[in-house]
Amino acid sequence: MSVTGELDSLESSPASPHKSSGLSERTLTSEELEKLRNDRVLVSDFKQQKLEMDAQKNWDLFYKRNTTNFFKDRHWTTREFEELKNCRESQGQKLVLLEAGCGVGNCIFPLLEEDLSIFIYACDFSPRAVEFVKQNALYCTERCLAFQCDLTKDDLQTTIQVETVDVATLIFVLSAIHPDKMQKALEQIYKVLRPGGIVLFRDYGLYDHAMLRFKSGNKLGESFYVRQDGTRSFFFSREYLAGLFQQAGFETLVNEYVLRETVNKKEGLCVPRVFLQSKFLKSVPSLSPA
Ligand SMILES: C[S@@+](CC[C@H](N)C(=O)[O-])C[C@H]1O[C@@H](n2cnc3c(N)ncnc32)[C@H](O)[C@@H]1O
Repeated sequence: MSVTGELDSLESSPASPHKSSGLSERTLTSEELEKLRNDRVLVSDFKQQKLEMDAQKNWDLFYKRNTTNFFKDRHWTTREFEELKNCRESQGQKLVLLEAGCGVGNCIFPLLEEDLSIFIYACDFSPRAVEFVKQNALYCTERCLAFQCDLTKDDLQTTIQVETVDVATLIFVLSAIHPDKMQKALEQIYKVLRPGGIVLFRDYGLYDHAMLRFKSGNKLGESFYVRQDGTRSFFFSREYLAGLFQQAGFETLVNEYVLRETVNKKEGLCVPRVFLQSKFLKSVPSLSPA
């Protein structure tokens, strides 16, 4: 793995003996602080506009190169998010889930294997990724509908009826979207969620090792970087994320840093990882007194 901030396939498994969670951000060493302070030069506006125009193409090429082999299946989601088992509108009903930015389905297929009473909408803007989902042996149209959708442009309601989703998952997806367009993606999800429905979120947190290892020349803005393959990554602080969700109409239920250490055998290093794990609610409107 390169040291220039390549997408990290280790991002996915929260099970670790050295894990803690909390409200304060990771404390940087003086060298790390210095490195971030010195990294002031931003990628030119011209290149930034091109990256935005090519965002879909760059992710599609990512899946052309890596096919289904990059991310590991995320078998941890029901352990970390008990709502995936409990958040039905009524007992005995199927849980309706939207996996926004589903990639090749590393999140959804473990869920389909585990729980028979679930219907999953899965969307991604990479046509190749959606095709890989549809080709998976576990894909079946009674339990799953995969479709192409750019969360920042296309209307989710073309495929999903308004207020019919119990739970939406955003797993390492919002970080790939330009900060100016994150709001739009959240507003779309808000519309298809039912009142009382929730968003389950996990993504890169501020000062994650992946952020620190970007070399100069890769910075697009505050906490926002580009990898060599043209895909981009934002690193969220709790405050920034809560602000985004609140503006889109959500109430914050949980919003915590998960701090871990992972051993990178290739580099012979033990590195500090920071993720943000959160839950946001679309409140049920209160009835006004007669
Ligand atoms: C790191 S992958 C995560 C995939 C999946 N959620 C998982 O847990 O394995 C990020 C995904 O977000 C998708 N993505 C990025 N921007 C998007 C957008 N504007 N609309 C829809 N999908 C997008 C990419 O194509 C990619 O598949």
